[in-house]
Amino acid sequence: MKFLFLNGVNLNMTGIREKGVYGTSTLDEINAAIAKHFKGDTCEFYQSNIEGEICGRIQKAQNEEFDGIILNAGAYTHYSYAIRDAIACVTVPVVEVHLSNVHARDEFRHNSVLSEVCKGVICGFGKNSYILAAESFKL
Ligand code: DQA
Repeated sequence: MKFLFLNGVNLNMTGIREKGVYGTSTLDEINAAIAKHFKGDTCEFYQSNIEGEICGRIQKAQNEEFDGIILNAGAYTHYSYAIRDAIACVTVPVVEVHLSNVHARDEFRHNSVLSEVCKGVICGFGKNSYILAAESFKL
């Protein structure tokens, strides 16, 4: 299968910021673990802090025959109607993921404007949130 692992704002700081919440692995280390887990599949990785770049990457994925996009939009999850609309633009299924259990944290993190246009949501399992999300396409 072919997957796009797409990370948004501040996810490049994973392993450096709030280690008690997001863990000690860097995004490169997380991506390496994902690539190792899915070694028989095609995995592409992209991160941007810029909302428009994330929208552009989702749009581009429409013509790249991905089976699924695994998206951790970071804080954009909670308010980006632009990313929500970009997901709605494409027929590639998107699974929303979070490293942390957003429902056990600040109230503003309980709401996602993306979930409604996503196939499903997985949160709270650290780097395994990405792996569980991609595994769901194989069931
Ligand atoms: C996050 C949760 C978001 O609320 C937060 O803004 C992030 C990371 C997570 O992976 O747990 O940047 O998406």
